[in-house]
Amino acid sequence: MLILGIETSCDETCAAVVDETGLVRSDVVHTQVALHAPFGGVVPELASRDHLRNVRPVIEAAIADAGLTLAQIDGISVTCRPGLTGALLVGVELAQGLAFALGKPIVGVDHLMGHLLAVFLRYQTGTTPAGPAFPFIALLVSGGHTALYRVDGPTLPEMRELGATRDDAAGEAFDKVAKLLGLGYPGGPVIDRLAKEGDPERIPLAMPMPSKNSAEFSFSGLKTHVARYVEREGRPGDDQRLRDLCAAFQRRVVDTLVRKAIGAARREGVPRLVLGGGVAANRELRERAAQACAEAEMTLFVPLLRACTDNAAMIAYAGALRLVHGADDTGDIQTSPETALLQVTRKGRGRRGALLPGQ
Ligand code: KG4
Ligand code: ZN
Repeated sequence: MLILGIETSCDETCAAVVDETGLVRSDVVHTQVALHAPFGGVVPELASRDHLRNVRPVIEAAIADAGLTLAQIDGISVTCRPGLTGALLVGVELAQGLAFALGKPIVGVDHLMGHLLAVFLRYQTGTTPAGPAFPFIALLVSGGHTALYRVDGPTLPEMRELGATRDDAAGEAFDKVAKLLGLGYPGGPVIDRLAKEGDPERIPLAMPMPSKNSAEFSFSGLKTHVARYVEREGRPGDDQRLRDLCAAFQRRVVDTLVRKAIGAARREGVPRLVLGGGVAANRELRERAAQACAEAEMTLFVPLLRACTDNAAMIAYAGALRLVHGADDTGDIQTSPETALLQVTRKGRGRRGALLPGQ
């Protein structure tokens, strides 16, 4: 089956053609980073308008890159949640119109499910699937999400959140700290580069949510520590102090992510860890995760960067797994800002199970 995937949940307009084995035939991403850069974060209304401008040419490019015509597509898979409502609607409405006009089945896909299955994508004909066996533990770290999952299989009920961030996502923390330090947007790549030349121990910053036994994260306190440091000591110029501060911040974030991921894998008795999301591009995170997995006798799977960041190939593949079994959500796709995956952490409120009745 050849599936057209469409993804417009945040600030990337994406379309891709993938078959049900995960082989990517085309993968087109139009990023809005430059559009949102002056604001230091994604502006929802600007995102929707830009998706509207670009979604059609992006789909046309994906079809052309795959050497196909629209009529040769067997089904459509579109991200319907979680994300910015206006942005999601652009992709969903267009996908539904297209499916209707072509007389093809369409399915709505949860964006996080796409990320969790991205490790199975292949970009070259003839390569064999190199993804992990089920179950595996996934650390999903992006600008919008930071959570640990146990993935027992490729369907939604088989994916369970073990813990998520109570406040900022890890990528969001990188972006906010970069803004604070006048380093521009997105902050991850520039902090990553500066941290390489810094000493992570010279500036003391508290470790966020240090308990190894909790799979929950919190990064807003760490961001505040950096803000307090800047208030107290002044904003560093382009000097060693800036590099030390970036190194200290990044070390705390990476330490927390790696410790909690390994802790969760141990508790679940699952020796396979998968990284995903844009923050998986981070050099120190990759290195330390590899080191920690080797020490714990676990296998680490890090997808290609293009599979880690937002893309439509992962959406096409997640949808393909339902479309091959005859699924069709025609007339029944609703957008939502929330994921359909079972969540245990409530933003700002701690664990769901810990809430008192009536709270
Ligand atoms: O997955 P992604 O492309 O988009 C979504 O958030 O959905 O992730 C983007 C995030 C941004 O917050 C960016 O600062 C962060 O990933 N990022 C990094 C690095 N590259 C991108 N964070 C740390 N180190 C990096 N090298
Ligand atoms: Zn994403």
